[in-house]
Amino acid sequence: MSESIPVVAIDPYGADIPDEWARLRAQGPVVPIELPGGIPAWAPTRFSSLRTLILDPRVSKDPRQHWSRYTEVEKHPAWSWIMSWLGVVNMLTAYGTDHSRLRKLVAPSFTARRTEAMRPRVEKITGELLSSMEESAAASGGVVDLRTGLAQPLPMRVICELFGVPDDLRPGLVRLIAAIMDTTNPSPEHAASVQEQIGTVLPALVAHKLAHPGDDMTTELIRVRDEDGDRLGDEELLHTLLLVIGAGFETTVNLIGNAVVTLLDHPEQLAAVRAGEITWDAVIEEVLRVHPSIASLPLRFAAEEITVEGVTIPAGEAILTTYGAAGQDPARYGADAGEFDAARGVDEHLSFGVGVHRCIGAPLARMEARTALPALFARYPELSLAVDRSALRQVPSFIAQGWQEIPLRLVP
Ligand code: HEM
Repeated sequence: MSESIPVVAIDPYGADIPDEWARLRAQGPVVPIELPGGIPAWAPTRFSSLRTLILDPRVSKDPRQHWSRYTEVEKHPAWSWIMSWLGVVNMLTAYGTDHSRLRKLVAPSFTARRTEAMRPRVEKITGELLSSMEESAAASGGVVDLRTGLAQPLPMRVICELFGVPDDLRPGLVRLIAAIMDTTNPSPEHAASVQEQIGTVLPALVAHKLAHPGDDMTTELIRVRDEDGDRLGDEELLHTLLLVIGAGFETTVNLIGNAVVTLLDHPEQLAAVRAGEITWDAVIEEVLRVHPSIASLPLRFAAEEITVEGVTIPAGEAILTTYGAAGQDPARYGADAGEFDAARGVDEHLSFGVGVHRCIGAPLARMEARTALPALFARYPELSLAVDRSALRQVPSFIAQGWQEIPLRLVP
């Protein structure tokens, strides 16, 4: 690792992600860091250095081929948590033709056109959840948690319907994804519990769909596995389901939550949205830029030695992708990059990734947020936070960025 730049341990709690990246940015465009448990990696701190690295074909996502320390993980019990990110075989950890084979099985189901066809269903679920929130609020002194009332169940129900996940398996999935996102406990016991859950919940889903095939994506992926051609291995099937179902809700939960909190923080911008002076689309893109639901993502690897903006990353070393840093980079967005300003008209952000691994669910996430946010604020125009702003707690993660609970008062 570099001798001149001090190695900084990333805060596993993600207590102040923007501040952490601002401090690291001051040290250089790409800096050496340590992930929980002491895993060494490099982190781009600027929009430009992140974009360059993601798009460099010498940067791989396959730890099996390109991480020089992959076989060392077993020697470091405190590193075992990273295996729930790197030990899975799906498009997120694949490189080259393996990646395109795995991606093309799923991506066509999430095009803008296919997503648009889901809009009526998303609107209906949103309406039902808003009514349930009202009932819960009435039963609990007028206060209701946005996360459990709307932000989580909306994307959860949508993705579970798409994949034909039966009701009884859904709570287990929620617990599993929360455990994968929780980076505050790099103990071998936590890692073993996550692996155990992966080995239980996903096989249970596949077994259910084998017994009850339906018009859903799990059934479709099982069929692909059973056919010749672009066969999916057994593990690839389970881990693709884990990725797409997990990414399909956890990220959007925080997009909706972050957007509501940010708008309540900026009543003048909320008023401008209501008056039609700022669009909901602009609000969503600006929330994604300033508070991306995925602040960082483990990991990429330098397949060869790579020099970016004067910093050399040796071959075989790990790279963290740092959307939380890029979105608030003053060199790209100006001195007030950390400020939420939906009227600034940002032309590009990296919060859905870029290049061959860019998010396949971006149209769905945008559509869900575009449905939920106006519906929520139209139905409860006087909605407010029911706790002091400083009482909101970040989810325990440096990867996910969002609030554990968002207590709201729907009517004054
Ligand atoms: C606000 C919501 C979301 C955010 C912020 C987000 C963010 C991201 C990012 C940053 C990547 C790029 C990963 C990389 O370059 O390594 C990505 C990839 C991915 N996302 Fe999303 N995502 C969101 C919603 C969704 C949804 C709704 C789905 C499900 C349909 C989804 C499925 C995926 C998949 C499967 C990939 C992997 C693509 C690949 O490796 O080729 N995401 N997402």
